[in-house]
Amino acid sequence: MQRAYIAEIARYEGQTVRIAGWLVNRRSKGKLHFLIVRDGTGFLQATVFKGNVDEDTFIRADHLRQETALQVWGKVKADSRAPGGYELEVAGLKIESEPEGEYPITPKEHGTEFLMDNRHLWLRHRRPWAVMRIRDEVERATHDFFSERGFIRFDTPILTPNAVEGTTELFEVDLFDGQKAYLSQSGQLYAESGAMAFGKVYTFGPTFRAERSKTRRHLLEFWMIEPEAAYLDHEGNIALQEAYLSYLVSRVLQNRITELEMLGRSPEALEPAATGEYPRISYKEAIEILSRLADRDSAIEAIPYGEDFGAPHEAALSREFDRPLFIEKYPAEIKAFYMQPDDEDPSLVKNDDVLAPEGYGEIIGGSERIYEPGLLLKRIREHDLPLEVYDWYMDLRRFGAVPHSGFGLGLERTVAWICGLQHVREAIPFPRMYNRMRP
Ligand code: 4AD
Ligand code: MG
Repeated sequence: MQRAYIAEIARYEGQTVRIAGWLVNRRSKGKLHFLIVRDGTGFLQATVFKGNVDEDTFIRADHLRQETALQVWGKVKADSRAPGGYELEVAGLKIESEPEGEYPITPKEHGTEFLMDNRHLWLRHRRPWAVMRIRDEVERATHDFFSERGFIRFDTPILTPNAVEGTTELFEVDLFDGQKAYLSQSGQLYAESGAMAFGKVYTFGPTFRAERSKTRRHLLEFWMIEPEAAYLDHEGNIALQEAYLSYLVSRVLQNRITELEMLGRSPEALEPAATGEYPRISYKEAIEILSRLADRDSAIEAIPYGEDFGAPHEAALSREFDRPLFIEKYPAEIKAFYMQPDDEDPSLVKNDDVLAPEGYGEIIGGSERIYEPGLLLKRIREHDLPLEVYDWYMDLRRFGAVPHSGFGLGLERTVAWICGLQHVREAIPFPRMYNRMRP
């Protein structure tokens, strides 16, 4: 008998098919047992009517336990009362394996810590299922977006001798004979060499930050997408970010509406982000807005010019807008060593952060890069970085230096915002955090 996947069940209406999956839960009403079955591609109600099956099957259907692996077959019927609009009229079933003991995650409410302890099982449930399918859509949309624009995917190393974003957040790895390396914080420096070789590249890989913070935005291991392009200036960089981010959101709105609904996430909240036309303010304006907000609301703290925004400041700023917000041109002192100074005010850099709306905070950091060798050398010294590990990076300025720019988008923060999650830990299959390493 033909096997059908639940995701494609509509095309089998009226036909008899077999679903290979697992039992999610069930309830009974007189001569009917309603089995909710999942097969990985979706969830489906399978109805066992006493008159349609032999007696043994009818009794067995009333004793199936949660997460029994089973195959069910029968006719596909459209039914507006069934979740998803279709149900399977069961003619028979076969049990593949019975659960050993009680399945830990029952339909009752569990706390997130408990669910995270059982993440390897929790992934089967509706909420993580919807989130991971949205994550997958964002990943594929990323590859489509960049490849349609002529960017080459460029894989950068995970073991690296150098820091990118400051030395305090590096995970050290012991190599051999006392030699050390670090887990990559960002593929950017290598992506810059890729941009000089291929024009336009993007990286998509795991990155690591040894941050002892238990916030809802920090992971020790997260995935970053980092485009880098030669002859791309600050303006072009901002335009690319807007095009990319609005494309990601439109793709989710186009292909993952069911999943958003399962999460209780209203698509309307995302629509402004899909249209582009993001507001753009300078660091200085952001400081001024914060100070005005602080005058009105004692819960909001103003900060002096020259300080970096913390999570509460970013949240307050992003709540002022209905779509992502660009903040550009920060003071050089609070940013990474490689950023190109502003033409008008060299105390500032040609960088930008993108804050997601609704208080989600920073999801992108990007900048134009210094390409003048003397200035780069000066900055490496000022930041007290070991020159010898940046010699190859300096070569990119010695041979064929051109203006170039790029940015990094944090995948989990972006998915958390799109899905409306409270915490980035739900945006990755197995989160690695200060207080979580298992399962
Ligand atoms: O702003 P960041 O540190 O920028 C860079 O790493 C640049 N080298 C990128 C580039 O220009 N190629 O990090 C970029 C993004 C942040 O905006 C955030 O979304 C995410 O990476 N991010 C984290 N996500 C989860 N947990 C953490 N600990 C994160 N740290 C940064
Ligand atoms: Mg940043």
